[in-house]
Amino acid sequence: MTVKSIVTNIVCVFIVAPVVAALIVWAAMVLRPDPPPQTMSPHATSSQTASIRPAPHTPVSGRTVYMANCARCHGASGDGKGTEQLDRPARSFLDGGFSFGNTTEAIRRVVQHGIAGTPMPGFAGVLGKAQTDAVVKYVKAMTPPTPEVGDEAEFVVTDRPQVVRGMLPARGPWDVLQPRGLLVGGTDGLTLSYDTDDVRFRVARQGPFARRTDWEGRGGTPLEPLGRIIHFAGPAAPFWKDASPIAAEFLGTTTRGDHASIRLAVGDAVIVEEARTSSHETLPGYVRILRVSGDATGVKMSIPSFEAPVALGERSGWHWWRGGNDVFGVQGAQPSGDQIALPQVGTVRLLVLPGIDAARAGAAGIPVGMPTS
Ligand code: HEC
Repeated sequence: MTVKSIVTNIVCVFIVAPVVAALIVWAAMVLRPDPPPQTMSPHATSSQTASIRPAPHTPVSGRTVYMANCARCHGASGDGKGTEQLDRPARSFLDGGFSFGNTTEAIRRVVQHGIAGTPMPGFAGVLGKAQTDAVVKYVKAMTPPTPEVGDEAEFVVTDRPQVVRGMLPARGPWDVLQPRGLLVGGTDGLTLSYDTDDVRFRVARQGPFARRTDWEGRGGTPLEPLGRIIHFAGPAAPFWKDASPIAAEFLGTTTRGDHASIRLAVGDAVIVEEARTSSHETLPGYVRILRVSGDATGVKMSIPSFEAPVALGERSGWHWWRGGNDVFGVQGAQPSGDQIALPQVGTVRLLVLPGIDAARAGAAGIPVGMPTS
């Protein structure tokens, strides 16, 4: 082998071959057709993702979203005079009277989940984040500057959750005063009241929070919850074991971030419960989230229905019940007659959709027509 052929070999192997190989790889990348869109999955690799050109950035117009989704009820100018006939008038935003809070966060919650017991639908499944942001900003901009809250006796809905203990008024002529009551209000204007004696849920309200009529706090006059009642609990004891009611013990409340929770002990379990507005499809309601620790084996919970609840079966991941015009959905616990059997540990969701007639419930995929109990 000559020196020349050795040099030629070295050049071929170490210089020409890599360059040719690199050219082939480059050509393969450049000439490869874009993958068809249906092959894109959430697990797409970054090189696939990079080949998708992002849509040009078009800002979402709050006015467009408003005109398309809100104006028919709230009016094109926000004066509350829309074209749709409603049994409850929609809000005029121009007056600034927000009963469910006028912080950006409060308006966003209302838009996402609607207002239980009213025609105000939830838009969580209809509007994307950018559209929701835009319409919330648009609605907020329609309202006059917020007057400072002057009435010190009133606990208003703010951007922080509120917890007040005290005497609660009777819920109706059939009810009695509750001396050891508890009001837990969220930033979304949802307030749940409990009787701390047996940690019994009494009623859910939506709207302003409460007024204290008795500043001495010596047990004279009751607190005055201000929101509108959207859901009454029934007379059934909340917790059961071996077919008998068992008393729960109130352990306290915790306020963290934008929600407050209550803690209770029942049997060998500790339950931490919080509530927030929620919706199913566009049906507005609220959800109680119960985090069960310790051991709740054998503990059953009543469906908090004013009228005797009827089981409707399972659909779209929820077990459904109906009591009067209220619809209940349960996740994370098994139905047991007209009660639910708590898991040993875990998270139970109790969704309440108040004031929903059968037609609306059926349209939202709730199996109203077929009782299974
Ligand atoms: C089907 C009719 C209807 C549609 C559509 C509708 N609303 Fe409403 N909305 C209502 C009614 C009725 C109320 C008042 C509920 C009550 O308090 O009785 C309301 C209340 C509200 C409130 C609460 C005001 C307060 O008192 O705190 C906000 C915010 C709101 N709507 C925003 C919107 C936005 C934004 C849209 C569109 C994305 C929209 N609504 C679409 C009927 C509607």
